[in-house]
Amino acid sequence: MSDVLKERALKEGVPIIKDEGLAFLLNMIKENGCKEILELGTAVAYSAIQMALLDKKIHVDTLEKREDLYQEAVRNIAESGLSDQISPFLTAIEDFKTDKEYDLIFVDAAKAQYGRYLEMFLDNLKSDGIMVFDNMVFHGLIYDPENIRSRNLRNLVRKIIKFREKVHNDERFDIMKFDNIGDGIFVLTRRNRET
Ligand SMILES: C[S@@+](CC[C@H](N)C(=O)[O-])C[C@H]1O[C@@H](n2cnc3c(N)ncnc32)[C@H](O)[C@@H]1O
Repeated sequence: MSDVLKERALKEGVPIIKDEGLAFLLNMIKENGCKEILELGTAVAYSAIQMALLDKKIHVDTLEKREDLYQEAVRNIAESGLSDQISPFLTAIEDFKTDKEYDLIFVDAAKAQYGRYLEMFLDNLKSDGIMVFDNMVFHGLIYDPENIRSRNLRNLVRKIIKFREKVHNDERFDIMKFDNIGDGIFVLTRRNRET
């Protein structure tokens, strides 16, 4: 099912996490025993399904704003027999509010909004929780932004670079950077876990 899902997503041009990034993410979940997961950016639920398949005790809340993708995600989750482990929400991330606290928050949506998502969901991260950000090198474009011809793309890449610098210098967090894995992954934890 997962291979079929992946092939279909790639064929339809739906962006999904790269194999290497996914393997890294799944390993992080296993190593840290994460059970409650929030995913920002469902697409067709490829990564949500992979995370849920790791352990029956894992529960994933996942947010998607596009109705067509959300509907496809709901179908895929049901076909995988994971409806009790994955709760998909049709919503803009910006409108989602919950009191729940998560072991892991996987951020894989609008790259220009990563700084905003971090602040929005920090209170939903357990004190020893982990935030994982995908696409931190954005197809390698962060290394040479000034040569990007499209203005919109250049601005987006500049925002990613700014986010990278901001979290790196933010004393609230410890950041592990894995620029060579998948499309670049940042792992953020709280420096002072008492707060
Ligand atoms: C890279 S895809 C997610 C891929 C998925 N995590 C996977 O690996 O299988 C990003 C998704 O985030 C959704 N998205 C982008 N901005 C969003 C927003 N503000 N609110 C909700 N969903 C958003 C997009 O529609 C897209 O489907």
